[in-house]
Amino acid sequence: MSARKLAAGNWKMNGLTAALSELDDLAGRENGCDVLICPPATLITPAVAHAGEIAIGGQDCHAKESGAHTGDISAAMLRDAGATHVILGHSERRADHGETDAQVAAKAVAAHEAGLTTVICVGETEAQRDAGETLDVIAAQLAGSVPDCATAANTVVAYEPVWAIGTGRTPTGEQIAEVHALMRETLSARFGDGGDVSLLYGGSVKPGNAAEIFAIDHVNGALVGGASLKASDFGPIIDAL
Ligand code: G3P
Repeated sequence: MSARKLAAGNWKMNGLTAALSELDDLAGRENGCDVLICPPATLITPAVAHAGEIAIGGQDCHAKESGAHTGDISAAMLRDAGATHVILGHSERRADHGETDAQVAAKAVAAHEAGLTTVICVGETEAQRDAGETLDVIAAQLAGSVPDCATAANTVVAYEPVWAIGTGRTPTGEQIAEVHALMRETLSARFGDGGDVSLLYGGSVKPGNAAEIFAIDHVNGALVGGASLKASDFGPIIDAL
């Protein structure tokens, strides 16, 4: 096995029923790699009906299977709704909801138990990069957020520098390469098949910069926010992979 190519879209808190027509457009294309769309939870079930070969995922899940957790959603519920994947530890969850590495790892265990593939996000803030702490931050997040039950078959890791998300700014090719090499080395050392885990880059990926980013060593795809909302933007990104 070698790392699979994956173009993943994170719709975040965007999308009403009308947005499902974008999936019709994507599902009707010849996509030469795995494609995943993570719409808001309200759209997961209807999205599956529009998705064809495209996988549908959630954007978060709770670590418990059920119980008194108002507003939360369990991994089993995502699976029941038709999701096959779940994004965990996105920097917006870490910042807005104070999620820690340990919580992300616990969610990942629950997700794997429910049969979901996890897309675990890591990434440094601008202050951490400026302080020269990037590689240490990524190593610590990987160690804390990726659970021992992770394998190349059930886990994808996404490097999303916080300062590049939704800003139109992207790291240099060297900066992406440095982090992806560290992630590959770390996962390979820790897991037998870590060399096969798909590693995504995320942060201001657009049709215009996708090919350049995908040419970087150990970049197996992208986790795309804004440019995944329209098939006319996401389609060319898929084609670039
Ligand atoms: O999870 C994807 C994301 O955070 C990147 O967002 O809008 O910069 O592509 P965007």
